Amino acid sequence: MINVLVYGALGRMGSIVVNRVEQAGDMAVAAGVDVYSGGGAVYSRLEEVKEKADVVIDFSHHTLTPALLDWCVQKNVPLVLCTTGHDEAEKAAIHAAAEKIPVFFSANMSIGIALLAELARRAAALFPEADIEIVEAHHNRKLDAPSGTALMLGRAIQEVRPGAVLNTGRSGLAKREKNEIGIQAVRMGNLPGTHVVCISTDSQTIELKHEAHDRSLFADGALSAARFLVGKPAGLYDMKGIVDQA
Ligand SMILES: NC(=O)c1ccc[n+]([C@@H]2O[C@H](COP(=O)([O-])OP(=O)(O)OC[C@H]3O[C@@H](n4cnc5c(N)ncnc54)[C@H](O)[C@@H]3O)[C@@H](O)[C@H]2O)c1
Repeated sequence: MINVLVYGALGRMGSIVVNRVEQAGDMAVAAGVDVYSGGGAVYSRLEEVKEKADVVIDFSHHTLTPALLDWCVQKNVPLVLCTTGHDEAEKAAIHAAAEKIPVFFSANMSIGIALLAELARRAAALFPEADIEIVEAHHNRKLDAPSGTALMLGRAIQEVRPGAVLNTGRSGLAKREKNEIGIQAVRMGNLPGTHVVCISTDSQTIELKHEAHDRSLFADGALSAARFLVGKPAGLYDMKGIVDQA
C-alpha cells in the first residue's frame, strides 16, 4: 500500500486526488495539508503532519515549492510536483532537491498528452516532408491562446524537425511555409480541451487526437507518477519516463 500525503488537499485538483487515492486499491491517503484546513485529517501546515507518507502529491501553489522540497528532503520522501508557474529560483531549488530525493515534475500531468507528444514526434520523424498543423479547442473562458499544451506538442515535434518554426498566427496573405508547424486555437462553449496533431503528405493525412473529459485526467496522471516514483533513486523524472517504460 502506498501512503500518499496530498498537499493542497482542499483545492480543485487536490480534492480530486484525495478521491482517486481513496478509490485506488493500492493507495491510501496518509494525510492532507491545506492552508484552509477545517481540522480532521487535513492539517493546515506540513510541520503538523504526524503520519508517515511514502510519497507527496502537490497541487498547491508554486511559491510553496522550496519549503515543500526542504521538508521532503528532510523526511526523505519522494515528491510528485504538479504546480505550475515556477520562477528561476524555484526551478533551481527543484533541481537541487532532485539530487537528494526522487522528484517528478511536469507542467502537464496527463499521460495521454505525453503519449500524444511521443506519437507526434515519431510521425513527424517518419514523414519528414509532411505538413504538420496542431489544432486545439478549449472553452470560451480560456485566457491564453494557443494553449501551453499545444506549444509543448509543437516543441516536441521541433525536436525531430530542427529549424521548424511554430506559426501561431496565420492570416491574410500567409502562404504556408515548408518549415513551419502551424498551431490553430478554437474557443467555444464549454470544451475542457482537445488537441489534434494533423500530419499531411501529398498522398495521406494522419490525425492524432487527444480529448480531455474533465480535470481528473491530471489527478490520474499524478497517481501514476506516484506509483512510478516510489522506489526510484534520487533524480528528476517526468511523463516521458512513464511513456518510455510502457
Ligand atoms: N501539472 C498539471 O497537469 C496541472 C493540472 C492542473 C493544475 N495544475 C496546477 O496545480 C496547482 C493547483 O491548481 P488548482 O486548480 O487545484 O488550484 P486551487 O487554488 O483550487 O488549489 C490550491 C490549493 O492549495 C491550497 N494552499 C494554498 N496555500 C497553501 C499553503 N500555504 N499550505 C497548504 N495549502 C495551501 C489552497 O488553499 C487550495 O486549496 C496550480 O499551480 C495549477 O497550475 C497543474
